[in-house]
Amino acid sequence: MCGIVGYLGKANAASVLISGLKRLEYRGYDSAGLALIDNEQILVSKAAGKVANLNERAHTNWDPELFERAATGIAHTRWATHGPPTEVNAHPHLDQTGDIALVHNGIIENYRALRARLEGKGHHFASETDTEVLAHLIGDCDNGDLFQAVCDALSQVEGTFGVAVISSREPDKIITARRGSPIVIGIGDGEAIIASDASAIVAHTQRVIYLDDNDIAIVTADSVDVRDLNNIPVTREIAELGLDAGATEKGGFEHFMLKEIHEQPEALSNAIRGRLDLHLGSSVLAGMGTSQRELAELGRVVMVACGTSLHASMVGEYAFEDLADIHAEVQQAAEFRYRNPILGNRDFVIAISQSGETADTLAAVKEAQQKGAFVMSLVNVVGSTIARETGRGVYLHAGPEISVASTKAFTCQVSVLLMMALKLGRGRRFSREEGLKIAREIEIIPELVAQVIRKNDLIAEIAEGYVKDEHAFFIGRGPMYPVALEGALKLKEISYIHAEGYHAAELKHGPIALLQPGTPVIAVACEGPAKDKTLGNVEECRARGAKILGIVTEGDTEAEEVMDDFISVPRAHPLVATIPAVVALQLFSYHVARLRGCEIDQPRNLAKSVTVE
Ligand code: M6R
Repeated sequence: MCGIVGYLGKANAASVLISGLKRLEYRGYDSAGLALIDNEQILVSKAAGKVANLNERAHTNWDPELFERAATGIAHTRWATHGPPTEVNAHPHLDQTGDIALVHNGIIENYRALRARLEGKGHHFASETDTEVLAHLIGDCDNGDLFQAVCDALSQVEGTFGVAVISSREPDKIITARRGSPIVIGIGDGEAIIASDASAIVAHTQRVIYLDDNDIAIVTADSVDVRDLNNIPVTREIAELGLDAGATEKGGFEHFMLKEIHEQPEALSNAIRGRLDLHLGSSVLAGMGTSQRELAELGRVVMVACGTSLHASMVGEYAFEDLADIHAEVQQAAEFRYRNPILGNRDFVIAISQSGETADTLAAVKEAQQKGAFVMSLVNVVGSTIARETGRGVYLHAGPEISVASTKAFTCQVSVLLMMALKLGRGRRFSREEGLKIAREIEIIPELVAQVIRKNDLIAEIAEGYVKDEHAFFIGRGPMYPVALEGALKLKEISYIHAEGYHAAELKHGPIALLQPGTPVIAVACEGPAKDKTLGNVEECRARGAKILGIVTEGDTEAEEVMDDFISVPRAHPLVATIPAVVALQLFSYHVARLRGCEIDQPRNLAKSVTVE
């Protein structure tokens, strides 16, 4: 949520900052701003709305020479928490002298008390934000040493922060710090770029330092000095990003979402490659950090996640139970830490997150660690907070996911969960031959997905029949139930159609009252033990005049016949079939949203990674 960029070089800071903001805009996009140091002065430009508005504003208000001249600056794209997304609430915020500027991600929980104290000392605030209070607090602590002032101010703060601070009195440095909100420092040749995630850095350098919680760094164009908040030096290794700048661009697709849907065969190959053991009928997931003996002794698998990752975990729940005969459960990360979860050292907790930064999932990790469970993560973003906090885990290798609507993360998460379940199953339940059968099904997932993607044009045509609807139901049973939930989430977040995901059998316990002639019901009815029952539920909807779109298995004429429209997906093991089925729904939602003229990659009110609870 919210994006931070800071830059120090020889010139062109404004252009670097604006292009960095554009790359970070998927994190939050309701307002944006930047501050430059020029001639011992801080200059600020802000605009409500997208970064494009800020770009226009800055070019209108500022002399073109300033763009070339200024060498130090900070910038921010916002997802509002305190105060509406107006220009005055946009970051950067200044201290009372106007000499210090700050951009901030996170929440200052005690900002009211700090604000009251500062007001008592004569400070005046222009905005409703917690961030402006922190800017004033730093100014209040400043006795001529910006680094010390930031340390002193942050030691008074409760809550979370990723910050970048500049002062016109110390123009050659940026002070940056983090607690609970990521900061990455890119080290270039005579330049440094600070950002809340690597996508703003990758065009400049591959060499980065990830700050840990409670780290604070003094960054100049040629040096990075990392300390803790008590001013004790700490060593942070320089890491290689291993990211290609092109991976964060649209590459000819109209939207990132469409690009990421199409990337799935490759992303899935990367997630699966080298991890299947086609000799032993098992999988090799070294990052799980468990011996086969420990796996055999595990009592329970508990998955914690939010949103799309939660739905992937729910498919995982079926996989662990069906393939590994192990008790598995999924907990909403936001609930987990507030409900006294009963955990012990035979419990295997898996935190599942694309970004690795989701605040609720991170809090659940800490809770599980405290309770002595065996905790690992399943994360996409390398070096992210959850990956580092758990210390052991499996990366998805899906590549950057920029679109707010998560697509390739889901399919890769499910694939890796299937491989985990296979590994556990081989240790506990089935023979090499049975394991091999499953492994071969997993191996061809990329091809199954490619087959669905080839139906893009057909799916676009079907979507035309659903563009004018304002409500829709998605139903499924067994592992297709979480697929239905995910289908509903995709449709609602990008098309703004009110979509409900329901277990197919639950419909008649209440929601069926809402069906009217023509109400769309999207039934995920692929072959598997629950298919016939799902078709029975479809008949109940048809009897009430609903318009049915089926996701069915290729060649299943019985299922096709009860649907008004259908998208067929390749035949596969019922757990594996969740993946092509969800891809069909991703494309369906995408085309409905496109035909409705929605802003697909940046839906209203949302942000890519949710770093507040
Ligand atoms: O990065 P995470 O996987 O932890 O994110 C969890 C959710 O915020 C995320 O999946 C969200 O639901 C997506 N916008 C769904 O498309």
